[in-house]
Formats: sequence, C-alpha cells, structure tokens
Amino acid sequence: MRGNPFGTHRVVEPKGLLPQPAWKLDNDTTKLYDNEILIDVLTLNVDAASFTQIKKEVGNNESKVAEKILEIVQKRGKMHNPVTGSGGMLIGKVKKIGKDMNVPVQIGDTIATLVSLSLTPLNLKKIVKVHLDKEQVDVEGEAILFETGVFAKLPCDMPQSVALAILDVAGAPIQTARLVSPGDTVLIIGAGGKSGVLCSYVAKKYAGPTGQVIGLVHSERSIDELRKLGCVDEVFVADAQDAVSTYEKFMKVTGGKSADVVINVVNVPDTEMASILCTQEGGVVYFFSMATSFTKAALGAEGIGKDVDMIIGNGYAENHADFAIEIVKENEPLLEMFMRRYA
Ligand SMILES: NC(=O)c1ccc[n+]([C@@H]2O[C@H](COP(=O)([O-])OP(=O)(O)OC[C@H]3O[C@@H](n4cnc5c(N)ncnc54)[C@H](OP(=O)(O)O)[C@@H]3O)[C@@H](O)[C@H]2O)c1
Repeated sequence: MRGNPFGTHRVVEPKGLLPQPAWKLDNDTTKLYDNEILIDVLTLNVDAASFTQIKKEVGNNESKVAEKILEIVQKRGKMHNPVTGSGGMLIGKVKKIGKDMNVPVQIGDTIATLVSLSLTPLNLKKIVKVHLDKEQVDVEGEAILFETGVFAKLPCDMPQSVALAILDVAGAPIQTARLVSPGDTVLIIGAGGKSGVLCSYVAKKYAGPTGQVIGLVHSERSIDELRKLGCVDEVFVADAQDAVSTYEKFMKVTGGKSADVVINVVNVPDTEMASILCTQEGGVVYFFSMATSFTKAALGAEGIGKDVDMIIGNGYAENHADFAIEIVKENEPLLEMFMRRYA
C-alpha cells in the first residue's frame, strides 16, 4: 500500500495537516508503506535550541534529559519539542525499503536523515546514552522516512558523530555562501557554535581579503578557538539577548559601520533585535536559529524603521550536505575542531 509522498497518512492529529505541524504521528514501525524507508536508529542529534531548552527545563542531567526525550516521543510519535517547535536529525541503518522506493541505498547502509525529527515518525525502545556536551543521544529504536524525505549516506572517512554534527546544520554554510559577496562586512552571532564556525569560515572565504568577518561569541572560551581557526577578522564577547549593548559593542569593533550581512546562529530566544540593529539599511539578516520569532523580527524591524531583508533559515538547500562536509574537509583546523568536539 502506498502512503502520501509527504507523509500525511501518518498524521494522527489533527487530521489534514502535514507531519511537521501535526501534533501527533503514527509511529507504528511494524507496518511499512510501499513508499517509505524503515531505519534502525543509532543516534539522534537533537536540535541545539531544543536541547538547550530541555536542559534548562529539567537540568543538565543525563537521566532527566533522557526521560524528557522519551516523554516527548511517547506523546507525539516524533522528537518534536513542543516548546521550541524544533527537532534535529538522526543517523541509522537502512532496515527495509518499501517496494516503490527507488533510492541509491541498500539495506544495511548507514544514512543521516536530512529532514527534521519534528516530522519523522520515531519509535524509541530505549535511550542508551545522552551526550550532554554534543547534543547527541544514542538510542535503540526505529524511524520512518517518507518518499519526499531527504537523506545522505555518511562519509566513511570521518566518525559518524562528527558527520552527524556537521549535517545537522548543513543548511547554514551553503546559504552563507549564497549571501556573502566580496568586500562585505559580515557579523556572525553565535560564532563559536557548530553552525557558527562553519558560517564564519564560509563568510571569510566569500567576503575575501577586502571583506570583514566579525564573530560575536557568548563565552570567552570561544575567542581563542575562533582566532586560531582564522575564520574571523575580529571577535568580541556579547550577550545577543541584550540588543542595545550588543549593537554598541559591534559599532566599536567596526568603527561605526553596520553589517551588510548578519547571520544569526544562536541557540536561545530573543536575539532578533541585536541582529536587526547591527544590519545596515538594505542589508540582509539570515535567521538560521530555531529560536527566532517571526513576530519579534518583523515587528521589531518595523518598530525601529529598519528596511532590511530577513531570511528564514531553510534547513534544506540543494547540495547542502556535500557542501558542508567538503568545507570541513578542506580546512584541517576546522576538521580538527569538529573531531575534538564531536568524535
Ligand atoms: N534552520 C534550520 O534548519 C536549523 C537546523 C539546525 C539547527 N538550527 C538552529 O541553529 C542554531 C545553532 O545551532 P548549532 O547547532 O550551531 O548551535 P550550538 O552549537 O549550540 O551554538 C549556539 C551558539 O549560540 C551561542 N549563544 C548562546 N546564547 C547566546 C547569547 N545570549 N548571545 C550570543 N550567543 C549566544 C552559544 O555560545 P555559548 O556556548 O558560549 O553560550 C553557542 O556558541 C540553533 O538555534 C538551532 O536550533 C536551525
């Protein structure tokens, strides 16, 4: 039997919605539709905004985080954080392929899903280990990929946990490459995080010698690391939730010049106004952060009379997975950093 290509046949409630906005999905993995793939899940990469919110709610404690994840999946049939609305992605082995699926993988191949966990039916049997520092969770369970679900085979020349971390944020570096032009002043808000370093490296590459890439980090420890990577021309510490002081600090760094492009890759809410204030008239703000509020950004920009283009960070772009893996491989210090943090 064929299911709907977008997965609406798995929506339990409310009926009629697509799987992402739906509250609950049917995660019964004993039945497989002819246009679905069944995956034996190995590891979940929980979205950074979601993981941060869960840790804030239950504490920085492995078993409590595990309990919360199990509770969400039990209630919703998917790892869709009800507070942040975000998901993450997973790696696993292909277990069964529906007979109508013509895909370039075989049973037993290890793949990473490139569609959000917030729309992926997930049946968790057990949480094996929560990696609090990596935002990754080793599990036993099964997941379903719909006909339109994008996935990538994992590269065999890097550890799976490293590839998972890079692929989780693969939409950001390729979009940065599209937005940044030679000579641009670029501000990366959250430059010390995993998408932050990827975007900084790409921004530096595309802004060229006449451009300026400035990293805003939250904690001092990221300063040395970013400088060593050579991805930024300047780096400064600020709390992006404090819009005015962030703007003042940024103006000091640039000598009064606003940014042509601002890239927001933080994992906390309430950073829309810092991003908008630091952007010049006619410039671009790229909100990749899942904690971004459309309302706060739209009304906030209007409120200060700022005419800027604001882009929602689409998690998908053509070729984004290969692009993200390639940029890490082409820069040894970047690869070393990812190995240190996520291997
Ligand atoms: N659009 C999409 O499709 C998509 C896909 C995946 C992820 N995301 C989102 O992208 C964002 C970044 O993900 P990630 O995995 O790169 O996150 P990450 O590695 O956790 O990095 C987030 C960074 O934000 C910084 N930060 C936290 N609070 C801050 C503040 N008040 N001011 C300035 N910086 C602050 C953190 O700095 P400290 O560590 O120093 O606090 C950290 O370096 C998240 O919101 C995630 O949900 C979006």
